[in-house]
Amino acid sequence: MTTLYPYLLIFISIGLARLAYLFISGDVLSPQIPDHSVTTHCYKSIRTLSWDLSHAECFTVLDEKFHHVFVDDKTHDTVKDTRTGYVYPGLWDGHGHLIQYGESLDSVSLFGADSMDEVKRRLVEYKTTRSEQGTSEQWLRGVGWDQAHFDGKWPTSSDLEIGENFKDLYAMLDRVDVHCIWVSDKVLELLPLPLPDVPGGEIPAKGVFCDNAMDLVLEHYPKPNKARKLQFVKNAMAELNKLGIVGIHDAGVVPKDLKIYEKLSSGDHWSVRVNAMIECDFRNTFCPEAVEKLSTPNGKFHVSSVKLFADGALGSWGSAMIEPYSDKPSSSGSLLVNATTLSKVTNEWALAGYQVNIHAIGDLANRLAIDAFEAALKSLCPHTTPHECQTQHRFRIEHAQIIHPDDQRRMLELGIIPSIQPTHATSDMGYAESRLGQQRTKDEAYRMRSLLPLHPILGSDFPVEPASIFEGIYAAITRRSPRTGLDPSGDKTGWYPEETLTLEQALQGFTFNPAYGAFLEGKAGVIKMGAYADWIVLDEPLESMDPESLRNVAVRETWVGGKRVFRRPG
Ligand SMILES: *[C@@H]1O[C@H](CO)[C@@H](O)[C@H](O)[C@H]1NC(C)=O
Ligand SMILES: [Zn+2]
Repeated sequence: MTTLYPYLLIFISIGLARLAYLFISGDVLSPQIPDHSVTTHCYKSIRTLSWDLSHAECFTVLDEKFHHVFVDDKTHDTVKDTRTGYVYPGLWDGHGHLIQYGESLDSVSLFGADSMDEVKRRLVEYKTTRSEQGTSEQWLRGVGWDQAHFDGKWPTSSDLEIGENFKDLYAMLDRVDVHCIWVSDKVLELLPLPLPDVPGGEIPAKGVFCDNAMDLVLEHYPKPNKARKLQFVKNAMAELNKLGIVGIHDAGVVPKDLKIYEKLSSGDHWSVRVNAMIECDFRNTFCPEAVEKLSTPNGKFHVSSVKLFADGALGSWGSAMIEPYSDKPSSSGSLLVNATTLSKVTNEWALAGYQVNIHAIGDLANRLAIDAFEAALKSLCPHTTPHECQTQHRFRIEHAQIIHPDDQRRMLELGIIPSIQPTHATSDMGYAESRLGQQRTKDEAYRMRSLLPLHPILGSDFPVEPASIFEGIYAAITRRSPRTGLDPSGDKTGWYPEETLTLEQALQGFTFNPAYGAFLEGKAGVIKMGAYADWIVLDEPLESMDPESLRNVAVRETWVGGKRVFRRPG
């Protein structure tokens, strides 16, 4: 029945002449058609990720949504042979940070700089084109240095005294893993002396601050003003579109920025759909008066969830563990909030109708998040099972990195959604086992396949990791670093390969699952009638690619709401 019906509709809505044209051109009709007309798009093949019709060849778009999706068995094969491109639903990143990503794009890249001289050369070159950077209001930013390239010697603030141009310059450069920053003398002058000891932090050289010690500097970092934020959003969205990304979950947006987003979301540059998680000005509080649930009529901006924070990160021993760290027996990390408050705030937001998403890395943090969700589900729905209640509330755990086996079972029972970053696993795999010990790593850490029944939402946490979803897919299906292609032993076995996902499962994690996790199922992450007309065009089908080349896929076109927002040059 999928064959005749769409043809009738095209016939009625665009007329016979157009229909004839479609069959001849085989590709995209004129992009100049006004809003309420139907456009038809045909490709070599279309993966819809829909259960109705999994593979199609054409679809029509009406009012920024997919209209009819169909297999074209009327057109001559010779015409079909001229069609190009393999289509997938537009990709979603389930956890990223939009403004910070835009900010990271506005910085000098020090990745791969293999000597101090090279670092200096890049800084000088960057400063020549960006003369406005380096003032007290707008520090010069960079990212990607690694002291391994400086003969293992830490850099110092004096290394940033590179001639006249760099005198009195405010500069802050992130280490390749963003766990240390290297700052200039001018920034150091802002700090109190003597510098205090910071638990979980280190100052390995004059001007270098690692992990929690970074807070000493970040406290003085000038927050970008509104004009710069607008620029960050614009640049970030353009870059995300290049990567085939049509939607993101912004994992923590303060009320002031939600207002900015709402305004921007009706404009031309807003080319990525955003599902924003509210972050109150004071973390882990209830601030309903400052925000509102909303979905803009154009479907480009949604607010229905809140972000809470249970703990910190594993790298800096900041994640809250049930048992002490294996490589630091004096510590089991720390909670950012106690169990009572976490449960109370979760319940308050849930009662007010919001989805609650808790950042939890360590197994203690994950346990308390599940406790809070379970209690909330029981009080919200006294007459149904917590699992049924969860299908309405869709509570999520952001990162869900280290989870005790008992709690994995509880998550599965309750249906708590894990929001996972496959590249965090491959970035952390080098040190995770020393932090956690072998048994705990094996039983608890960076599960993916074990959590599959929960339809994990996948993401990158950009700018902490590269925003490329293809790197995320690669990490998920190989459990190897997308940068090196290797696991921690330098092999190709993959790190705990029993936790790999299939390509299909990874794709679901970047399409359907984030749609469900944002209450947008049927509207996003799928090509079917009524869904947002968001799609990407690739040169080859992902399924037939060598997994090694998956990490470097270059998207040919990205479409959002029936509009092409990116086309690869050349
Ligand atoms: C939990 O934290 C809150 C807020 O900081 C505090 O008022 C309360 O006493 C703490 N409760 C417990 C049991 O420590
Ligand atoms: Zn994050």
